[in-house]
Amino acid sequence: MPTKFLIKGPTRLYGTVDVRGSKNAALPILAATLLTKDRCVIDNLPLVSDIYLALDALKGMGARVAWTGLRRVSIENTHIDPKGLRRDIVKKMRASILFTGPLLARFGAIEEMHYPGGCSIGARPIEAHLAAFVDLGAEVRRDKKSFSISISAEDAVSSPHAVVLSEFSVTATENILMFLSAAAYKKSIRIAAAEPHVIDLAKFLSKMGAKIKGAGTSRIDVYGTKLLKGVTYKIVSDYIEAGTFLIMAAACGGELKITNAPISHLDLVIKKLASGGAKINIDEKSQSLTIRTVKRMRLDKIQTLPYPGIPTDLQPILGVFASQTYGKTLIHEALYEKRLESLKELTKMGARVEILDPHRAHVGGPTRLKGGEVHAYDLRSGAALIVAGLVAYGTTIVHGARHVERGYEDLDGRLRKVGAEIKRI
Ligand code: EPU
Repeated sequence: MPTKFLIKGPTRLYGTVDVRGSKNAALPILAATLLTKDRCVIDNLPLVSDIYLALDALKGMGARVAWTGLRRVSIENTHIDPKGLRRDIVKKMRASILFTGPLLARFGAIEEMHYPGGCSIGARPIEAHLAAFVDLGAEVRRDKKSFSISISAEDAVSSPHAVVLSEFSVTATENILMFLSAAAYKKSIRIAAAEPHVIDLAKFLSKMGAKIKGAGTSRIDVYGTKLLKGVTYKIVSDYIEAGTFLIMAAACGGELKITNAPISHLDLVIKKLASGGAKINIDEKSQSLTIRTVKRMRLDKIQTLPYPGIPTDLQPILGVFASQTYGKTLIHEALYEKRLESLKELTKMGARVEILDPHRAHVGGPTRLKGGEVHAYDLRSGAALIVAGLVAYGTTIVHGARHVERGYEDLDGRLRKVGAEIKRI
């Protein structure tokens, strides 16, 4: 089993890449299929390990899962036993927390669910999730390893009209949205996350029969129903993947066309790159972006924020780009405490990085990066180090390919088609 990427650089990228479905939209939608006993068909799934794990988790609970196309799966959750939720999967995958909302809606209780594992990019507590369920009237019991939740229909009905989240948490918003969609009353979620994957989940739940208003804003009104039905649904294109290719092309140079790009989800990223000097041609009609770079690009400040701010998931990749632009870039990672680690890794390849505190760093440029041996410790740092390998002179080895495989489908194969010298070893 190959565990590393070997990259020879520098490379310019020429050609076309097609963006796959959004992993972070697909994960809650797969969990939301638990809200009905009918068959659901989910299309445009990215073929990545997190999706296979989520499907295995469903199968463990009794779901009948069948692939009916290359990226299309049919799921029947007629007979489900929540005790079948595999601990090893829960511990491996942060997104396993997304089973909480649907299982609670369906069974009224969850017993001893292990805390989710996943990427090591910061504390990422599940307080926002649990506190919101408590506000809805749930009783939560916790010990060191697991938590249990129970909620009766009456408690949920008499709880306050609005659930106010403690921060703009993406998966907490999704959990509460799924729970409320199957409840027979109206409630609002305030301080809701507005990410495109939250909107996609809301579209899926609406198609199932829930009435949802305001998805994509900080207040979502949900009029749930006990009669959610099975539907066929196509997952939205992944704006993080599109953004990854865009920034990668800006860093490497050349001319890259990105098709199936959800352009409106990338407003600020496109604005930043264009104002730094990249030539970006936007074709709204065909949903494609073509990027061409010029000499002497700049990138003054990157501050990650909840959507529609610069996504934290693109910050490590923007950090590599910053090492190729003129002048000093301030990177302000407002969300995670440990997501500047990939910048530290980049210094092994010669990048000029000054970590100011756990949330801020300066990256100086342009720097002629040199090939080296580096370690990915999460999905996005893995993508960033691949970009560094493409930009750098010589051979780079990126350890931790499994992190990249969690969220980018056949990244090396697709990059080879646009001129990269990259393979898994
Ligand atoms: N945070 C704040 N303030 C806020 C909102 C969040 O400081 O207003 C902090 C949190 O405390 C936490 C971090 O930001 O440390 C992320 O919080 P959130 O709860 O929103 O993250 P999540 O729901 O666990 C999802 C994605 C992540 C993505 C984050 C942020 C899924 C399955 N996961 O995680 O995706 O980084 O939102 O956008 O949707 C990835 O795909 O590589 C990934 C890690």
